[in-house]
Amino acid sequence: MKAAVHTRYGPPDVVRVVDVPTPTPKDNEVLIKVHATTVNRTDCGFRAAKPFFVRAFTGLVRPRVRILGNEFAGQVEALGPGVTSFAVGDRVFGYDDTVCGAHAQYLTIREDASLARIPANLTYAQAAPATEGSHYALANIEKAKIRAGQRVLVNGGTGAIGSAAVQLLASRGVHVTAVCDTTHLELMHRLGAERVVDRTVSDFTEDVQTYDVVFDAVGKSSFGECRRLLEPRGVYLSTDLGPAAQNPFLALITPALPGKSVLFGFPRHDQAMMNYFKET
Ligand SMILES: NC(=O)c1ccc[n+]([C@@H]2O[C@H](COP(=O)([O-])OP(=O)(O)OC[C@H]3O[C@@H](n4cnc5c(N)ncnc54)[C@H](OP(=O)(O)O)[C@@H]3O)[C@@H](O)[C@H]2O)c1
Repeated sequence: MKAAVHTRYGPPDVVRVVDVPTPTPKDNEVLIKVHATTVNRTDCGFRAAKPFFVRAFTGLVRPRVRILGNEFAGQVEALGPGVTSFAVGDRVFGYDDTVCGAHAQYLTIREDASLARIPANLTYAQAAPATEGSHYALANIEKAKIRAGQRVLVNGGTGAIGSAAVQLLASRGVHVTAVCDTTHLELMHRLGAERVVDRTVSDFTEDVQTYDVVFDAVGKSSFGECRRLLEPRGVYLSTDLGPAAQNPFLALITPALPGKSVLFGFPRHDQAMMNYFKET
């Protein structure tokens, strides 16, 4: 089969499309013919080994994972002898950020991994990008225990994480304000935002409205800048470490103090999450 392979860390041109052996499914694995995948921030970070600490997971000197691609949609082509929950021909989508392997014509994955059948009304191209950003968004939404009726501002509403956050929050009955550039104002409304702030026209940190949660899904602000936007017991979430890597420290200290706090969502993924995305 053809696969996009990188054998050293670096810019996009370290990736070469070459012939590699098609994987064979083990006892509890399925073989999937990949119809759609994405090149997302996780792929780019793993390919370039940026930030440096990713080498702890991807290989200190050279990449251990040579075929990237963590989210995918495709068709089950063959089954390991012990597989009971999928059948040949099933249309499936999934997420795997440890083995990866979706930037290839075929991949194998355990049947109990983050894998689910695609709803009949979705194409492969629509299902493939539904997991990576969504699982980061969900981790933060659950960490802050965001409930129906609350007011939440999402900065970076058009990104992988931000666009998932807007949709997941709207589906839970949350009043969403999204921040994006001029070209995406209409898109944000279509995804479920009640209010949209054009970041090229105004600075969202000077908004007159207050929020139960400010979710900076692009990590461009700080707790200090967003404090005045928060209700007295409001929560600040960010997908980045923040200035001087302050967010993890603030997430340790501020929840123990009265008033506004910083929380940090740690992502996880499983089949229950896949089914939730499928139904949402
Ligand atoms: N995916 C991951 O692997 C991962 C994991 C953990 C944390 N993070 C962090 O989370 C952040 C978002 O990740 P992502 O995968 O969602 O990224 P993404 O899909 O590349 O989206 C980034 C979004 O940020 C917006 N943006 C760019 N500059 C901005 C600014 N100055 N102010 C407001 N919005 C701005 C862009 O919107 P426009 O098109 O409107 O410019 C774009 O929609 C990144 O900072 C990343 O480091 C990512």
